[in-house]
Amino acid sequence: MNNSLIIYSSTDGHTKKICEYILSIIEQKYNTKLISINSVHCEILEEYDLVIIGASIRYGKHKPEIYNFIEQHKLLLNSKITAFFSVNVVARKKDKNDINNNPYIQKFLSSTSWRPNYLDVFAGQIVYSKYKLVDKIMILFIMWLTKGPTDTSMTHEFTDWSKIKNFSNTLINKI
Ligand SMILES: Cc1cc2nc3c(=O)[nH]c(=O)nc-3n(C[C@H](O)[C@H](O)[C@H](O)COP(=O)(O)O)c2cc1C
Repeated sequence: MNNSLIIYSSTDGHTKKICEYILSIIEQKYNTKLISINSVHCEILEEYDLVIIGASIRYGKHKPEIYNFIEQHKLLLNSKITAFFSVNVVARKKDKNDINNNPYIQKFLSSTSWRPNYLDVFAGQIVYSKYKLVDKIMILFIMWLTKGPTDTSMTHEFTDWSKIKNFSNTLINKI
C-alpha cells in the first residue's frame, strides 16, 4: 500500500474540511495522513508517494506559509506525485471556477516555479457570524459589489463536493 499526505493551509477551517473529505476517499486505497502546513517537516514528507496541498485565499492571497513551504521542499516535492488546490469564493462564479480562469490559480502559477502534477480550484464558503467586524464589513461590501449573498445571519457554502470527489478519484488512480 502506498502513502499519501494531505496538507492544509486554512484560516477558518473550510479548506481543512475539504481535505478531510478528500482523505475519506483517498484512504480507501492508500495510507493517508492529514496535517497542517505548520506541522510538516522534511523527514515526514519523505515517507509519502502522493502529496496534496490545499490552501485558502484571504484578501487576494494564499498565505505566505504556502510559498515558503514550496520553496523549502521543492526538490522533494518534484520527486513525488503532487496536487495543489486553492479555495476561494470567486470560484463560485462559473467563469472563474477552473484553473484557466480563476485569478488566484493564475497568481499562484506566476508566484512559483513549482508545477504540481494536478491543479484545481474549489469554491469555499462565507460565514459572516465568524468574522471580526472589519472583515465582515469588507466581505459584505465585496459580496454586494459582486452580486453575492449579503444575509449575515446565514452560512453561504458554495462548495461543489462532487467536483472534489472527482479530483480525489483522479488522484486515487495515480499511484
Ligand atoms: C477576511 C476574508 C477575506 C477573504 N478574501 C477573499 C478574496 O480576496 N477572494 C476570494 O475569492 N475569497 C476571499 N475570502 C473567502 C475565503 O477564501 C473563503 O471563506 C474560504 O472558504 C476560506 O477558507 P478557510 O476556512 O480554509 O480559510 C475571504 C474570506 C475572509 C474571511
